Amino acid sequence: MAAGLGKRMRSKLGKVLHPVAGRPMVLYAVELAERLTDEGVAVVIGHQGDRVKVVLDGYAAGRTGSTTSHGSRPVAGREKGMTAHVKNPASKPSSILIAEQKQQLGTGHAVMQARSAILRARGRAAGTYLILNGDTPLLTEATVRRLLKVHEEEKAAVTILTAIVEDPSGYGRIIRAHMEGEPRQVLKIVEDRDATVPESAVREINVGTYVVDGAFLFQALDQLQPKNVQQEYYLTDVVKLAVDRGLGVSAMIVTDADEGLGVNSRQQLAMAERVIRERIRARWMDAGVTLHDPATAWIDADAHIGQDTVLYPHVTLDGDTSIGEDCVIRSHTRITNSTVGDGVIIQDSCVITDSRLEDRASVGPFAHLRPGSVLGRNAKVGNFVEMKKTELGEGAKASHLSYLGDARIGRDVNIGAGTITCNYDGYRKFETIIEDEVFIGSDTQLVAPVKVGRGSVIAAGTTITQDVPPNSLAISRTVQANRVGWASKRRAWLAGGEPGERRPTSGKGQVVSQRKGN
Ligand code: UD1
Ligand code: MG
Repeated sequence: MAAGLGKRMRSKLGKVLHPVAGRPMVLYAVELAERLTDEGVAVVIGHQGDRVKVVLDGYAAGRTGSTTSHGSRPVAGREKGMTAHVKNPASKPSSILIAEQKQQLGTGHAVMQARSAILRARGRAAGTYLILNGDTPLLTEATVRRLLKVHEEEKAAVTILTAIVEDPSGYGRIIRAHMEGEPRQVLKIVEDRDATVPESAVREINVGTYVVDGAFLFQALDQLQPKNVQQEYYLTDVVKLAVDRGLGVSAMIVTDADEGLGVNSRQQLAMAERVIRERIRARWMDAGVTLHDPATAWIDADAHIGQDTVLYPHVTLDGDTSIGEDCVIRSHTRITNSTVGDGVIIQDSCVITDSRLEDRASVGPFAHLRPGSVLGRNAKVGNFVEMKKTELGEGAKASHLSYLGDARIGRDVNIGAGTITCNYDGYRKFETIIEDEVFIGSDTQLVAPVKVGRGSVIAAGTTITQDVPPNSLAISRTVQANRVGWASKRRAWLAGGEPGERRPTSGKGQVVSQRKGN
């Protein structure tokens, strides 16, 4: 159920679209459901349904599309600002059925829409249905498997998941029969706003996870009445309907109450984020990753990290990022939707987005790799280098202070300090091609479109405006003149000097040394 607006979030963004550890909240429920069944999953969408559908389509495409292998995935095809795909948990094709709930008249009404969609698609009601709220991202597969087992073993018509919490406000309360001995039979679920004072005091809450027999569910839905404070069709009322008919209702109390967290507010969103991030960190440490300061490692749900990689404090791995084995990532670095090979070293304070770094490349400190940057094996990008849509070949180096945009740079090229590709004329972007083994001297500007042939040398301080043939020297700078004694004359003049003495100009003085180029 993912059609609700989520009023209490006070957001322009629909609640289930809010990311938790970088993944839209709705996908936690969808992925969980897909792990648990081969029978297909229906998602009820409504508020901002088009956007939810885009997320679901991306998820479905992610599972059939890109499989990540370090250093070999093309960066092309990633759109700017694209949200990451959740990777395929199993290798089965996705079978998400969309049910539209045009007006959000409650969770019972949401399931009615799913019923129509399921009947249209499959023509039958038989079977067991698992119903999940779209706003409980902490729920685990193990718990739901246990719930399904309880349902089966107790041959219940309805089985619900409950939690005992400190503060039950906002949740539906589980009302059990007043009888001695355990377990006391569940009679009904009462919503927070409809609860009497004694009912409000109950600390056992409804998690919003239900296993229901289809034959019962499909006709019980017709008996729901919006007779409550919110005037909504509550799915929770099916519990009482089952009890009234003498059908079995079971309940399982979740061991870790965190799992039952329903995200209705920003504070609950923050709680969910904290717990998920902790789980993610624990998972990677268990998989052989060193986190020097786990609390500050910010790893998104869909990021991947190879064995023996070391993360220093305050590293952020966003979106669909994959880091290879034996890498070192220093502090204050953020890597988004990028693929990093094995043995890569990323120094402090780098920002890397939609890029690919092949094995043993090294980056930083203070480097900015913008979308479409590719570093070949053993390539090196040093401090204060910005790259965009640029490939730096195997073993090539750009060690200091450069802007490299829209460039293809070959193998073993040396890019001197302060090199700039002038890729933009104010209207359009142009490409710079630098072939293998070229040496670019410091403070070179390459005015694109331009190509430097294999093995050439560009003298420091050169502005390249024409193609350079292979194995050539290109130099473009004015001839140097040294005027001996000029500086001492100027100092004397600045200090007062003789009355009437004229200020030395750069045009005066004897030129004693003049060379062309170097
Ligand atoms: C619901 C339960 C409550 C439970 C709590 C657990 C009902 C009536 N109440 O309350 O007993 O303790 O979850 O977190 O079910 N949705 C739709 N269409 C709608 C309304 C909601 O698809 O018309 C979806 C929402 O997008 C959300 C889920 O259903 O993913 C739950 O809705 P929400 O409004 O959050 O219900 P709660 O008040 O939290
Ligand atoms: Mg809720």
